[in-house]
Amino acid sequence: SSTAPESKNLRVKLVLLGDSGVGKSCIVIRFVRGQFDPTSQVTVGASFLSQTLVLQDSTTVKFEIWDTAGQERYASLAPLYYRGAAVAVVVYDITSPDTFKKAQYWVKELQKHATPGIIMALVGNKVDLHENRAVSSQDALEYADKNGMFFIETSAKTADNINELFEEITKRLP
Ligand code: GTP
Ligand code: MG
Repeated sequence: SSTAPESKNLRVKLVLLGDSGVGKSCIVIRFVRGQFDPTSQVTVGASFLSQTLVLQDSTTVKFEIWDTAGQERYASLAPLYYRGAAVAVVVYDITSPDTFKKAQYWVKELQKHATPGIIMALVGNKVDLHENRAVSSQDALEYADKNGMFFIETSAKTADNINELFEEITKRLP
């Protein structure tokens, strides 16, 4: 005889960090509402959304998502959102090396100040703009490996790898 499958209900606090304009809000809207908003406005302070995934063993994972503002003037607020977070998603734009540098800044900040053991994802967004790629997948993968992160490239515009990003996170939950 088999035992009943063990299903759990998990709540996961997740924070998105990264330069202004890399597509953090669009990634969240794509994941939560299944839509792309080409007229997305810059985030002021931070915004909160949640979305629940049901896994194959019926475990539910409720993501409580803090979408932070990337503009420099809001940088000092970030600790309010990454403190106590179980997951940090650090986003850059594959067409912009500056945003990849900024991602590395956020990774260092998380390594210094976030909860030890925080799950970190490095996300190269806007892969639909591959003709303008300026950050190689290889460089980003090497950086992610060195820093104990997982790496994925996404497009909020086409939905490429957006669900996969959150599914990969669920595989790494304790
Ligand atoms: P802040 O709120 O200022 O931190 O910016 P953000 O990272 O939230 O950026 P946002 O999601 O508002 O997107 C910025 C711009 O990039 C918008 O014009 C989006 O339409 C565009 N954008 C976002 N994701 C993608 C994508 O995957 N592909 C393309 N081509 N454009 C995208
Ligand atoms: Mg935003």
